[in-house]
Amino acid sequence: MDAQLPVAIFDSGVGGISVFQALTHLLPCENIIYLADNKRVPYGGLSSETIVQYTSEAVSFLQAKKAKLVVLGCHTASARCLYDEEVFSFQKRFSVPIIGVINGGLQALKQRDDFRRVAVLGTKSTIQSGVYERLIRCQNPHLEVIPIACPLLVPMIESGLFTHPDTESLVRGYLQPLLNDSVDVVLLACTHYPLLRGLIQKVLGERVVLLDSSDYTSFEVRDYLAAENLLKVSGKPHYQFCVTDKPELFSRRVSLFLGAEYNSHLIDQCQL
Ligand code: DGL
Repeated sequence: MDAQLPVAIFDSGVGGISVFQALTHLLPCENIIYLADNKRVPYGGLSSETIVQYTSEAVSFLQAKKAKLVVLGCHTASARCLYDEEVFSFQKRFSVPIIGVINGGLQALKQRDDFRRVAVLGTKSTIQSGVYERLIRCQNPHLEVIPIACPLLVPMIESGLFTHPDTESLVRGYLQPLLNDSVDVVLLACTHYPLLRGLIQKVLGERVVLLDSSDYTSFEVRDYLAAENLLKVSGKPHYQFCVTDKPELFSRRVSLFLGAEYNSHLIDQCQL
């Protein structure tokens, strides 16, 4: 394996951009290939079997692109492929190593010991998988976990309705159980949700701490690459974006979060 090979980030849509931002900040020289299955987004309401099938197709694609590591930048795919007891060793189907984002979320929570109640916001599938509740309780049995599924947020984000009043109404509705209660920490357990961080913070108030998995996932990537002697530590990075639907919409979203210079990056349409 060669350090020049890219790290791959996979998400159903633009959510993995929050992971991309953290990764490029921490490891500015790494070549990165980002794959969005925006033709089939959202994954969060699909059956576990379908999510595993779509994610397998994505990892096969990225393996064929010679990625040195694949990051499932999607909690739904991570929960269903890497933590579901019924999915027999997802990693063993591939030669490329795979890292999910759930450990990153747990690590973010582990850094704090000053709270008693945590709300976990995720897609329907992630919340139904129960993976966060189970693992947070293992980590800290005294914590009260409040899981909240927010099924319509990914479609709103994918439609670019970040500041639309309907998005705010949806967020208020989903977070209603937390508004009068003293929840201290909210874990954004969907990589799309950090793209709505400002709105979620506004609704919950400044007192509530919002955590997400992107920083700790990028630390995990760094540690893995360093241990395998695969870190690329010099030279300009090359970024490649691949999407399964028309590139135009994705390009607009990406440049909104990453800046106008990303307009010039080639976005390839591909088939999984
Ligand atoms: N960003 C994905 C996640 O973290 C969204 C899944 C979806 O497509 O619904 O779960």
